[in-house]
Amino acid sequence: MAQEVIKIKGGQTLKGKVEISGAKNSSVAIIPATILAEEPVTLDGLPKISDVETLVSLLEDLNIKAELDDTTLHVDPTEIQNAALPNNKVESLRASYYMMGALLGRFKKCVIGLPGGCPLGPRPIDQHIKGFKALGAKIDESSATSMKIEADRLVGANIYLDIVSVGATINIMLAASRAEGQTIIENAAKEPEVVDVANFLNSMGARVTGAGTSSIKIVGVPHLHGSRHSIIPDRIEAGTYMCIAAASGEQVVIDNIIPKHVEPLTVKLKELGVNIDVGDDFMVVQRAHPYHSVDIKTLVYPGFATDLQQPITPLLFLAEGPSFVKETIYPERFKHVPELQKMNGAIDADLGTATIKPSHLTGAEVYASDLRAGACLIVAGLIAEGETTIYNVKHIYRGYTDIVNTLKKLGADIWTESVDA
Ligand code: EPU
Repeated sequence: MAQEVIKIKGGQTLKGKVEISGAKNSSVAIIPATILAEEPVTLDGLPKISDVETLVSLLEDLNIKAELDDTTLHVDPTEIQNAALPNNKVESLRASYYMMGALLGRFKKCVIGLPGGCPLGPRPIDQHIKGFKALGAKIDESSATSMKIEADRLVGANIYLDIVSVGATINIMLAASRAEGQTIIENAAKEPEVVDVANFLNSMGARVTGAGTSSIKIVGVPHLHGSRHSIIPDRIEAGTYMCIAAASGEQVVIDNIIPKHVEPLTVKLKELGVNIDVGDDFMVVQRAHPYHSVDIKTLVYPGFATDLQQPITPLLFLAEGPSFVKETIYPERFKHVPELQKMNGAIDADLGTATIKPSHLTGAEVYASDLRAGACLIVAGLIAEGETTIYNVKHIYRGYTDIVNTLKKLGADIWTESVDA
């Protein structure tokens, strides 16, 4: 069977403008959230990625009319049927777990396959389940492949999350928005995507306050109406292009961003020595030489995003001394390390920390184990001398709109090829 690979000949200088798409991690929650409405909803500014296509197809499995027109999605949930959601599609992305909160809020019941997603080590959903149970749901986990969640009544509750979780915070908000009475989520995630989902729910008539702080209040309402909502820009896509520009950019303009959302990365890149000019909704990034070594520790927002520790790592080979990356959200998120070693990178990871020493990267055949590892290998391939071939690129297409053509337009020597698996 043939598979597509991405090939890069490193060492080109990039210049030009990149337009950032709508946020993947908002979109993948807001598309399921449309189920909560009883009237048509339009979403603008969706990224053109395979995760969006998979979720649209899951909506269709529920007999929802969903029409994706470029970056706009028209959803008509008036004929919705609460069907059991198939395992194969649900398994292909983590965010299918948002179907649980949305269907529970709408029907007080759902049957759904177990969520998959990037292999980043253990990714439990116990906090989601804790939240659903607190709202009155019973969970049947007797099947090895699917889960049944059911409530006679959904009643608001005070829920203290044991772990700050983006997914659990959003999933509980979805279900609670149509529960009876008031829910308070304490120790809630503060990520901009949580705020975007809350704004979308409120645009349909929900009563969510406090999103963006660690205490979110949701007063349930019996019905949600139609609305039109624009997705916020993707801070992780923006951050990835910032790393790309810092690796090989003469002058790269990154447009359609909210600079505040990428500030933890901006600050770190400036520490490294990268030239960055920040505008109202754009920035100009330019590589510099030499870079200084830096230490990075991933944290929940507004700390340094775990999703950007892999894309920034190749830049650390360009520093004058050793750098350290400590991963606190997913301590096993280091599958890019052996691939970078194949590219002559002096990198090791142990006990949740990677040590990166100055190296001259060379092209190699490498494997994208997950989405952000794939982005990391693209950054590395752009820096490396010679040709890099990246396998398993389906992960990259899950999260980056048309990345190969975008980089080509900036001047990268990058292309796809079909090879025998
Ligand atoms: N966790 C639990 N129990 C839970 C939920 C989470 O132990 O019930 C743990 C996780 O294992 C992890 C930590 O809590 O160690 C944080 O997980 P969180 O729930 O916040 O992650 P998520 O919602 O599953 C989202 C993004 C990820 C991003 C993380 C952290 C989506 C669809 N995914 O995942 O994005 O890394 O938040 O910011 O929104 C990516 O885009 O590449 C990606 C993996």
